Amino acid sequence: MAAVLKAKPGLTLDGRFLLLEELARGGMSTIFLAEDLENRPARVVVKVPLPIFSSGTGAWSIFQREEEIGLALDHPCVLKFVRLDTDTDPDHKRRRSYVVTEYVEGRTLADLIAERAPLPEREALRIASRLCAAVQHVHDRGFVHYDLKPANVMLGRDGTLRLIDFGLAHAAATARFVLAGRPPPIGSSDYVAPEQIRRKRGRPSVDIYGIGVIAYEMLTGRAPFPGDDPFAMASARVLGDPPAPRLLHPRISREAEEIVLRALRRDPLERYPSAAAMQAALDRPERVDVSNLCDRLVPVTPGRRRLRIARTVLLVGVLPVAMQVALFLGLWGYLASRR
Ligand SMILES: Nc1ncnc2c1ncn2[C@@H]1O[C@H](COP(=O)(O)OP(=O)(O)O)[C@@H](O)[C@H]1O
Ligand SMILES: [Mg+2]
Repeated sequence: MAAVLKAKPGLTLDGRFLLLEELARGGMSTIFLAEDLENRPARVVVKVPLPIFSSGTGAWSIFQREEEIGLALDHPCVLKFVRLDTDTDPDHKRRRSYVVTEYVEGRTLADLIAERAPLPEREALRIASRLCAAVQHVHDRGFVHYDLKPANVMLGRDGTLRLIDFGLAHAAATARFVLAGRPPPIGSSDYVAPEQIRRKRGRPSVDIYGIGVIAYEMLTGRAPFPGDDPFAMASARVLGDPPAPRLLHPRISREAEEIVLRALRRDPLERYPSAAAMQAALDRPERVDVSNLCDRLVPVTPGRRRLRIARTVLLVGVLPVAMQVALFLGLWGYLASRR
């Protein structure tokens, strides 16, 4: 783990990866542009855990899982991971504290949204369609991404789109509720699905919701449930629906609105059954049956929220105390009658 703590430009990892410059610092890691000295002149990206995550085996197991999942994927819209020969030595694999991927020269979808959203509808639908293709591939290989957001989508200068960051991804079969047992997805509260908040078992439908949020943001220029308070944002998406996109931008077509709102249904069963099904709609919006989901949205009103909070306080706070008091009074009455 020593290499992790000292990772900085100028350092060569394992005599092979010369770190050239720091490209970004994510929630859990630092991303370096590096030169692969064994494959000159290949430029690669080296992802190193932040020092706070580099101690303990838990963090490294997340990185190792990210690499295993990345290596199992092979799709034009998914980031390519570099398989390291040294990994035939299991001891070294255990010690190595970085993953290596291709370098995508370009910017993230988050940058594009910050600069230009709302995007023209055709462009937004095309990006969402390619994202669906990437996600379908991830699902076909038996994984769920769990952290779909614009910062995890790279747009290459050559027109490529790559889904990146498998740090929270899991095998669909073993997926437990997502936020338990490890750090919550930092900065992802805009994109988390209602069933994740309710700590229901994670499923591919979580990723469909994530694509819905990204599409909503591309088309309207704002998040469906904006805000600074992650708890308020979380409860809003469990209790109600976002404003219809066409209320924010009347130029959005009814079909595009219908697609986005279907991906954002609170009940996962009402969403698209697969990313491929969503992609088919995005590719041929003129064929979408507009069922006017926009008229069936439940707004998140302060009244509804207050009612739910009151019910929760009653259930979690008042009821147990009341039961204890009743128990105590009962016991006291019983003891008094025996005296
Ligand atoms: N292969 C890559 N090529 C270019 N930039 C990248 C690459 N991978 C990551 N980045 C940049 O680094 C940021 C964080 O990377 P990411 O893998 O999402 O790390 P984290 O798990 O810490 O969020 C991305 O949002 C992007 O700006
Ligand atoms: Mg990320």
